[in-house]
Amino acid sequence: MPEPILSIRNLSVGFRDTETKEVINVLRDVSIDVPADHILGIVGESGCGKSVTMHTVMGLLPRTAVVTAGQIRYDNRDLLGLNPVQMNEYRGKEIAMIFQEPMTSLNPVYRVGDQIAEMLELHQDISHKDALAEAVRKLELVSIPSPEKVAEQYPHELSGGMRQRVMIAIAMACDPKILIADEPTTALDVTIQAQILALMKALKEKMHSSIILITHDLGVVAEMADEVVVMYAGDVVEKALVVNLFREPSHPYTTGLLKSLPMLHSSDERLYNIVGTVPSPRNFPEACRFAPRCEFVHDRCLVERPRLVRIAPDHEVACWLRVAQGAA
Ligand SMILES: Nc1ncnc2c1ncn2[C@@H]1O[C@H](COP(=O)(O)OP(=O)(O)OP(=O)(O)O)[C@@H](O)[C@H]1O
Ligand SMILES: [Mg+2]
Repeated sequence: MPEPILSIRNLSVGFRDTETKEVINVLRDVSIDVPADHILGIVGESGCGKSVTMHTVMGLLPRTAVVTAGQIRYDNRDLLGLNPVQMNEYRGKEIAMIFQEPMTSLNPVYRVGDQIAEMLELHQDISHKDALAEAVRKLELVSIPSPEKVAEQYPHELSGGMRQRVMIAIAMACDPKILIADEPTTALDVTIQAQILALMKALKEKMHSSIILITHDLGVVAEMADEVVVMYAGDVVEKALVVNLFREPSHPYTTGLLKSLPMLHSSDERLYNIVGTVPSPRNFPEACRFAPRCEFVHDRCLVERPRLVRIAPDHEVACWLRVAQGAA
């Protein structure tokens, strides 16, 4: 794998209980590398820590959050060591994010053009008039028809798909090196979803930027990503190039996710469901966090935590089963 431009190393993050003041750990030793010009998918059920990981990268954790360990290196600097003013310079310019809830990140009382212009003015020495003209060009870039007209409109006047294109225009306004897209298409219908994903991929190819794509949907990963990180209950349980992951899924959780993919099954076959649900962080098991749901669980899984081991070039898994099979 080429040299990463973003490197998350052993990141652990918790939240302080406002009453007991106890810190409940959510992420445990998360390590993720993002090379340049690369699409990395992050998958895992709800509550696995995908958004918390990326909010940490963006310096956008709430005040109750505590980073208990780890480093996030970008461009040879530790982002966790930056003060808020320094972080503001990175956010949007070097690393931009499209959030899970589009309407909360578009400001309803500002025209679309002004919102893109604001991003440009924040990071570039540019007049408001020039920024507005540039905003129209950014809308063109995300294939919005009649961009001059849309620049004058308010977010609520646009369809869901158009709003998502505006979000991408804002995120890409300053040509960031990394775009983090947190479930960018879940609220959209399937055809629009495909258009938005294709647009993101086309922009990435044009700008040679990287995308971190968070999704529940392994089908989207197969379509879009070069590499996948599978998260479960705040742990990275498997990392692999997409081809390897689909050819040889190695963590029982990944296998379960793949078996529950509708497109891999004929219509008369019942869809597989991984038994149980992700526990709440208060009840995360100490050793293997997937053990209570795993059909291959054995004694070691309950007492000793499995670490990621390399089982092939560009393929790592954290599971005692693989170690027992001589994977390390
Ligand atoms: N502000 C917060 N205070 C306390 N706990 C939080 C906070 N934000 C997130 N968490 C907890 O952290 C864990 C990870 O949450 P996160 O939002 O990262 O999950 P996710 O993988 O993005 O899920 P989804 O797919 O539903 O978006 C969850 O158990 C969640 O309840
Ligand atoms: Mg999330």
